[in-house]
Amino acid sequence: MEPMLAEERIVVASPLATGEGGGLAEDVLDGLTRPFKELPPKHLYDARGAELFDRICEQPEYYPTRTERAILEARSGDIAALTGAAELVELGSGTAAKTRILLRALDDAGTLRRYVPFDVTEGMVRDVAADLVRVHPDLLVHGIVGDFERHLGDLPPRLDAGHGRIVAFLGGTIGNFIPGSRRRFLRRLANALEGDDVLLLGTDLVKEPCVIEAAYDDAAGITAAFNRNVLHVVNRELGADFDPDAFEHVAFFDREREWIEMRLRAERRMDVRVDALDLDVSFAAREELRTEISAKFTFERLEGDLAAAGLELLEVLTDPDELFALSLSRPRE
Ligand code: SAH
Ligand code: TRP
Repeated sequence: MEPMLAEERIVVASPLATGEGGGLAEDVLDGLTRPFKELPPKHLYDARGAELFDRICEQPEYYPTRTERAILEARSGDIAALTGAAELVELGSGTAAKTRILLRALDDAGTLRRYVPFDVTEGMVRDVAADLVRVHPDLLVHGIVGDFERHLGDLPPRLDAGHGRIVAFLGGTIGNFIPGSRRRFLRRLANALEGDDVLLLGTDLVKEPCVIEAAYDDAAGITAAFNRNVLHVVNRELGADFDPDAFEHVAFFDREREWIEMRLRAERRMDVRVDALDLDVSFAAREELRTEISAKFTFERLEGDLAAAGLELLEVLTDPDELFALSLSRPRE
């Protein structure tokens, strides 16, 4: 058979209607008119946001990325052997920087056939697809530009019934859901698994609050710029007139709930106009807008959440300092 050209091995599906912006208008209308203002984190990742996030991952304070990478470097061979997976589906795939380690291991094991990156940011899905078909000469890539909270149904069917897939959700992104939604989302993921499919989940672990707070407030100010970027996105996409520099980045670990919250605090009283929504919003001096939570896990919380979602834990892989955990689980019989 003729080998397929690189471009012929790529499909990109786009369940996000063009120009919909991942529901930005609805989320802004909803989030900025609440008693406690809030915006969902997916809007942080436009092209500039994605670039800033990459730089966050390189900051000395941001331990999750390098720790998860080290675990993958040490254990990808085991994951490949244990799963024998033909496909890797990845939610919130971003630049797939760490995923490449696992793809390499699956390819070396001789089982890899397809990678399915799934992200809201179209440019990232397309770039990753183009790059990976070059690195892996037989790999098929089925990219999905979508919202994993709404478009899980757009996952392609398994390539063939006999070979399992890994559904990976890395980077601790699962922690960005509030606990109830997190369990609901895990249950939906569990339902998307068939046969010997497994969920590979990255979760950041509970540790000293100062270590966590530093990771979300690096000295170079990259996380602060990333956080404020959401206001630039709203200005550009919805014709708003936020002054992003008048908002201070706040990262605060809630010890009771064991999650870190990212907020933007208004330095002074402000009135903001959002033209596209015909909306006027006012901020009191020091009023805060919540942009993200990032929940941290104990092993008990991880196991409890997985069990509540109908998943059985197969393995927990962690680093020597137990900063971060990667777990493998599958639907309970
Ligand atoms: N997996 C990478 C990136 C994590 S950052 C890593 O571990 O480093 C989170 C990623 O999820 C971003 O690329 C962002 O665009 C994507 N994302 C966030 N919310 C999303 C949603 N609701 N649907 C799809 N992708 C989402
Ligand atoms: N999923 C990442 C996390 O929870 C995303 C992230 C890292 C993030 N730093 C941030 C999101 C700062 C908003 C602000 O660790």
